[in-house]
Amino acid sequence: MTIWNLGSINADHVYSVPHIPAPGETLAASKLATGLGGKGTNMSVAVARAAGRVMHIGAVGADGRWAAQRLIEYGVETRYIAEVPVLTGHAIIYVDAHGENSIVLFQGANHAIPLDTIRAALSEAKTGDRFLLQNETNLQPEAAQLARDMGLTVAYAAAPFSAASVQAVLPFTDFLILNEVEADQLRTASGLGPADLPIGDVIVTLGADGSDWFDNKTRQRLHFDALRVTPVDTTGAGDTFTGYVLAALDRGQPMAQAIQLATRAGALMVTRPGAADVIPDLSEVTAFRP
Ligand code: RIB
Repeated sequence: MTIWNLGSINADHVYSVPHIPAPGETLAASKLATGLGGKGTNMSVAVARAAGRVMHIGAVGADGRWAAQRLIEYGVETRYIAEVPVLTGHAIIYVDAHGENSIVLFQGANHAIPLDTIRAALSEAKTGDRFLLQNETNLQPEAAQLARDMGLTVAYAAAPFSAASVQAVLPFTDFLILNEVEADQLRTASGLGPADLPIGDVIVTLGADGSDWFDNKTRQRLHFDALRVTPVDTTGAGDTFTGYVLAALDRGQPMAQAIQLATRAGALMVTRPGAADVIPDLSEVTAFRP
């Protein structure tokens, strides 16, 4: 089946710094690298690398044609990436000596995706397809509702977190992925913990502590340990996890197996500097021995 991903497309400008700069601090970077990123793009590439079929829905400006071209080279279908008269999105990313990051986003074309592009894309969707979205584009609730009305399973990766955005998409969501800080923020905003949400499947990622899957259909909670690796750059690791989970589910694997595979993919990803350009493929993930 196909995963339809309404997602951001960014140029990532990555500065290697000794530590994340404090307010008012001026800091010299030891390196600058530019590559393909955006949470949506990273997830699309991860699905393709995990041998899934993925159609990316998004927008770039004329300055972002290279990004759409690169997505094709990475196996992502791009006919619903619109070109709009707005600058392509970009991200300024600081990565410190421990692989931790800090990100500033310029939304650009990611917030100018035409509704007609989303409608045209979803008119091609088939029963059994999945719809994925994150919080880096415009038209999230409209698109999620459209997908749900068409009978698609809707997955929402609630990053970057905004309580208002999650709450707007929640009524149309079947599967929610968020980290523990975001889960706490959602609890504060809605009064509901992961096990109480009216959503069939919720995954809470816990960084070095692994992840929890809340199967709210059977009211069970399963924990998955992380793999021990030395991080070089955590950028895109969560996106890789999400893309791998969805691709595995789409292949018919049960959730527990999908999470185990995705955990390996995310662990391998943090050993690599960069985002979409370095997401590992299925053979690398299965061969990975941390
Ligand atoms: O999750 C990592 C991504 O967040 C980066 O690739 C950057 O573009 C931002 O969207």
